[in-house]
Amino acid sequence: MTKNQNIAAVVLAAGKGSRMKSPLPKVMSKIAGRTMVHHVLASVVELGAKKIVGVISNGATSVSAEFERVAQGSSCVVQHEQLGTGHAVQQAVPELNSHDGVVLVLYGDTPFVKPETLSRMVSHFDTDNVAVCVLGFTPDDAGAYGRLVVDNAGDLHAIVEYKDANDEQRAIKRCNSGVMAIRSSEIESLLDAVGNDNANGEYYLTDIVSIARTRDMRCVIEMCDEQEVMGVNSQAERAIAENIKQQELRTEMLAKGVALIAPETVFLQSDTLLAPGVLVHPNVVFGPGVDVHEGVEIKSFSHLEGCVLRANSTVGPYARMRPGADIGEDAKIGNFVEIKKSTLGTGAKVSHLSYIGDAEVGADVNIGAGTITCNYDGYNKAKTVIGEGAFVGSNSSLVAPVEIGKGAIVAAGSTVIKNVTSDAVVRNIMPQEEVLGRAKEIRDTNS
Ligand code: UD1
Ligand code: CA
Repeated sequence: MTKNQNIAAVVLAAGKGSRMKSPLPKVMSKIAGRTMVHHVLASVVELGAKKIVGVISNGATSVSAEFERVAQGSSCVVQHEQLGTGHAVQQAVPELNSHDGVVLVLYGDTPFVKPETLSRMVSHFDTDNVAVCVLGFTPDDAGAYGRLVVDNAGDLHAIVEYKDANDEQRAIKRCNSGVMAIRSSEIESLLDAVGNDNANGEYYLTDIVSIARTRDMRCVIEMCDEQEVMGVNSQAERAIAENIKQQELRTEMLAKGVALIAPETVFLQSDTLLAPGVLVHPNVVFGPGVDVHEGVEIKSFSHLEGCVLRANSTVGPYARMRPGADIGEDAKIGNFVEIKKSTLGTGAKVSHLSYIGDAEVGADVNIGAGTITCNYDGYNKAKTVIGEGAFVGSNSSLVAPVEIGKGAIVAAGSTVIKNVTSDAVVRNIMPQEEVLGRAKEIRDTNS
């Protein structure tokens, strides 16, 4: 569709977002684990935008870093004063370097715009003389959105901001989403003609429509659903957006064959990878960076982030997989087990109440209930290595750095402070004493 067009994108992200009442710049608020601006950038990157420019406010270094991280080669310009959307886009024009093609303007706080929709907008420029395409929508409540005024031919005649509109214009149901595409060759001169003589005293980007019309250029409308252009201005709206995104991610997972028993109770991230056939029980929370391979079963109340679960492993209920957990094929992680920055070999088992951190656990190792890798001495982290087929008895403390050889057995309740040789048994000798009749004496004197 967009084969002929060279695309650039300007993402407006200079707004303060004061209604969020958050110390974060608004566009850094997350939805399904991704910043809002990341969602927007992902869409323009997928569309194939060659040049991406962010417009940010003074000092918003976290925002420029996010542009750089998500869209390599993008750049940001600072809009020192928020004088309006037209003024904001104007700040980006020098960065476009006489781009030849179509420039899309998007808002960093409008995260759900789909690449397909942007592509439909851009395809209008295959027709000569189209200078602007505006993405319109028909909201349930048109509120204070800018209104799209069309001419007899159905082309866009003007965008009138609510505050500047008369009653007849306010009755128009089609509104401006804010997303706009502009022919690159016209952008500079159109913006130069924008003034600020309006109810807000702002330089409105929307004014370029009527300006283009006076120059005999065409302006057109492309429509989309209200949900796709929802903007986020408050925590309540962010929560609504989160809910929309969660439902979309769950639907995608079900469609590809992931068995979510109770999808509405499973929280996913934009980057969650679940193979077809994976079974997820109710109430599982995925944090960022989880990769789950085929045949895996995740039981209820587990929390996972930054981990890999390899084929046919099982996790939970009540398991916590932290960043760097790499669970081998057929391995089994049971309840109240926390695993951090550790690899578990094929068929390894950690079934109950354990902390495994900074460890390398070999294939078929069995780790008994309550075992702890003591990986931190208060100053430094150290590593535990457990060889293939070793058996660690319940309630053992493995004081790192320490290595347990292949096939070794650690007796229950041991505190392992030195390396253990392969195939050896290690135990802390604790003499067991029995005082005959003493229990009865205690009972009798206390009753
Ligand atoms: C704008 C549109 C309106 C449309 C609505 C959709 C204009 C004049 N009006 O109105 O027609 O219906 O969006 O939501 O364009 N921004 C900057 N710098 C500025 C001003 C704004 O970066 O100087 C950014 C904001 O952070 C925000 C976006 O641009 O992400 C839109 O600005 P906002 O002031 O919210 O525009 P609206 O008044 O809502
Ligand atoms: Ca707005």
